[in-house]
Amino acid sequence: MRVLGIETSCDETGVAIYDGRDGLLAHALYSQAEIHAEYGGVVPEIASRDHVRKLLPLLDQCLADAGCARADIDGVAYTSGPGLIGALLVGASVGRSLALALGVPAIGVHHMEGHLLAPLLEEAPPSFPFVALLVSGGHTMLVEVEKVGSYRMLGETLDDAAGEAFDKTAKLLGLGYPGGPKLAAAAEAGDPDRFPFPRPMTDRPGLDFSFSGLKTHTRTLWESHPADERTAELARDIAAGFQLSVVETLALKCRRAMKETGHGSLIVSGGVGANLELRKALRRDGERHGWAVSYPRIEFCTDNGAMIAFAGYQRLAGGQKQDEAISARSRWPLEELNAL
Ligand code: KG4
Ligand code: ZN
Repeated sequence: MRVLGIETSCDETGVAIYDGRDGLLAHALYSQAEIHAEYGGVVPEIASRDHVRKLLPLLDQCLADAGCARADIDGVAYTSGPGLIGALLVGASVGRSLALALGVPAIGVHHMEGHLLAPLLEEAPPSFPFVALLVSGGHTMLVEVEKVGSYRMLGETLDDAAGEAFDKTAKLLGLGYPGGPKLAAAAEAGDPDRFPFPRPMTDRPGLDFSFSGLKTHTRTLWESHPADERTAELARDIAAGFQLSVVETLALKCRRAMKETGHGSLIVSGGVGANLELRKALRRDGERHGWAVSYPRIEFCTDNGAMIAFAGYQRLAGGQKQDEAISARSRWPLEELNAL
């Protein structure tokens, strides 16, 4: 079975084709980052309109790269939530209409299930059960995964998502957009120990996260310096301290989750999973404590069509499909998904 995947939940247009026998045949991605950079964040209406412009050409490019025709597609998977509703509707309308025209089944995929299953696209994929740390711009969660669709929430953020904290802090420090990679680049040359930073919610039991206090701490620290002292060097040191705090906080909660569940495998996915310091810290912990740590390749940590094609393939091949509705939901709890 050959599944076309479409991702348009935020500011990336992604298309991919996954084949049950031959694996990932092709994937194509267009990032709107440059367009939104001017505004310092994603402008939903601009995002929707740009998906309209880019999706069909990208789809044709992806089919050409895969060496197949539209008629070779056996099913269509599109992100149906959570995300920006206008952006989601673009992918959902195109995906559903294409499936209807081709007479093949379609399925609406949960964006976070896409992230969660993305490490399975790699060679030597992790085996079930595992613990998943999902860290993106909109979500931060620890999930116990028994199998595809069987997800138990172990902990999540009570306020800002990890990626959101990166984005807001980068904006505060004048590092630009998209914040995560910009802040990480600045932190590379900074001194993480120059200023003390809190490790939020690590002094009490539990697996929930909170990043808004850390964000406020960072703002207060930055603003405690008079304007003429807010140099690039200061920004780099604060960025480094902030990043270390997020990395150590996430790593501590992962260690706790691994000990509590007793599972031998941890996977990390979502945009912040592209952070090299986080990957290093989690790998080190895995080696020390004897559990396997897996990630998608960097380009499949952030939003992409491949993870949607793959998750959609799992569900379509498992016999699931949706009726002829175009389904898009801005909110959609991961635990509402059914197991295969
Ligand atoms: O998964 P994703 O592409 O989109 C959502 O589903 O939200 O994640 C985007 C988030 C953004 O907040 C971005 O700043 C962050 O991931 N991000 C990073 C890095 N690359 C992307 N954060 C820290 N370090 C990075 N290298
Ligand atoms: Zn995402």
